[in-house]
Amino acid sequence: MVDAGKLLIGGSRKPDDSFKEAEYLELKFGNRHGLITGATGTGKTVTLQVLAEEFSAAGVPVFCSDIKGDLSGIAAMGEPKDFLLKRAEQIQYADYDFTKFPVMFWDLYGEKGHRVRATIAEMGPLLLARLMDASDAQEGVLNIAFKIADQGGLPLLDLKDLQALLNYMGEHAGEISTQFGFVSKASVGSLQRGLLTLEQQGAIHFFGEPALQISDIMRVAPDGRGMISVLAADKLMMNPRLYATFLLWMLSELFEELPEVGDPEKPKLVFFFDEAHLLFSEAPKVLLERVEQVVRLIRSKGVGVYFVTQNPLDVPETVLAQLGNRVQHALRAYTPREQKAVKTAADTFRANPEFNTDEAITQLGTGEALVSTLEGKGAPSMVERTLIRPPSARIGPISEPERSQIMNMSPVAGVYDRDIDRESAFEILAARAKKVADAEAAKRQAEEAPTENNSAAGRWSLPGFGDAQEDEAAAKPAAKGRSGYQRETVIEAAMKSAARSVASSVANQIGRALVRGILGSLKR
Ligand SMILES: Nc1ncnc2c1ncn2[C@@H]1O[C@H](COP(=O)(O)OP(=O)(O)OP(=O)(O)O)[C@@H](O)[C@H]1O
Ligand SMILES: [Mg+2]
Repeated sequence: MVDAGKLLIGGSRKPDDSFKEAEYLELKFGNRHGLITGATGTGKTVTLQVLAEEFSAAGVPVFCSDIKGDLSGIAAMGEPKDFLLKRAEQIQYADYDFTKFPVMFWDLYGEKGHRVRATIAEMGPLLLARLMDASDAQEGVLNIAFKIADQGGLPLLDLKDLQALLNYMGEHAGEISTQFGFVSKASVGSLQRGLLTLEQQGAIHFFGEPALQISDIMRVAPDGRGMISVLAADKLMMNPRLYATFLLWMLSELFEELPEVGDPEKPKLVFFFDEAHLLFSEAPKVLLERVEQVVRLIRSKGVGVYFVTQNPLDVPETVLAQLGNRVQHALRAYTPREQKAVKTAADTFRANPEFNTDEAITQLGTGEALVSTLEGKGAPSMVERTLIRPPSARIGPISEPERSQIMNMSPVAGVYDRDIDRESAFEILAARAKKVADAEAAKRQAEEAPTENNSAAGRWSLPGFGDAQEDEAAAKPAAKGRSGYQRETVIEAAMKSAARSVASSVANQIGRALVRGILGSLKR
């Protein structure tokens, strides 16, 4: 950081290519979002690294995904290579120095970083439907499943919880349909198959506990620099939908959990959404609208979202309009679509009379970009041809031993390592099914031996979930009128389960009904 409150992006060039002036991103506009675009190999990842370094140095925590593993070097000391020193000289960056940054590595698979998990309940029906590419009918069933679980306190933590609930719904489709809306066995079946596919794709690693605490990605290191969370996404990218849904879930969690702060001096967190086209491509209209809404509103929670993608056309116009800070690397302009992208990109900038924006975009060198940031009262600055500053940490990947060492020293070392499988919908429903089966067996026995105490029939009429009081009641002879089999309704069953003291964050919220936010994740 050169100037308090300003992040150095690079140095702009005059028409004769000589140095013009330093280009900054104002920290107080850091929450006004941004966009980094450019064809492959033009310098996007390095630009992302530079911005992450600058935000961290200014005390702002950063979250970013590492698609190719080449961003991990931000955790290691940079080396004075010739091309870096030359770049520093070109932009008259006298203070250029090498350092490493405080990094926490994360990984949905728990291999290249601390495990990241979310519970099914936290993810919510909207995002889960997106993840499974569910049809409307299937999404309807998912909504009902969450309604049953939310209202009744059946904790949906991992995939097997949802499987168990779907099983239950399949078995009681008729009853549930009359209470909640139509549930077809076919939709339940296809959802179950969808869950199996998800499981095979590795999502089983992701759903469960301990779930990621948002506070852990908002840490500041003891030296005052913002911690940079780097999500290992190379393996995750093989399942692009999981990748995009996961990042979207993170955004919605941030949005639901963080308090309003208006326009702070500096952002509370900066979130880089790399390969952002995955978020928008083929996304249903409802989801796009919600994403647009979250991006718009999250700003006042102090979160800056920076989309990184090859083509500015990848980002819907409504979202594009909200991205105040722009770094446009070179684009090719051979095909009509490419030409359109160049035109679109150029049109979003405040023109500079010194050069033609369209032409400049196609002529930029590696690590060079058209830059425009918010200034003054929040208006975009005139676009400048800018040589991006060289990073202070290493360009390229770190070694595995270096990574392990950093993970061992991490403030969350050990916290997310092991799965916790506490009692949740799966166990509750299994216990319930067992009780029903036991009671059935007992009833059969009682019928075969009519002289024996008939209390088993009472238990039979109360296939509760093991609530102590309920068990007591069940132990007593059946009340008049309740003898014989009465299948309790799903909601009754769920309400009974709510009485249990399941020590789950989800279950703890029973009493006050669960509230879901814009993207369907739980509100706290
Ligand atoms: N600001 C910079 N200063 C010095 N060198 C740079 C800078 N930006 C990019 N480079 C050089 O260009 C190379 C490619 O940059 P980078 O990896 O950021 O491209 P990219 O757009 O992310 O590519 P891809 O689309 O393939 O991921 C870097 O390895 C580095 O050598
Ligand atoms: Mg890259």
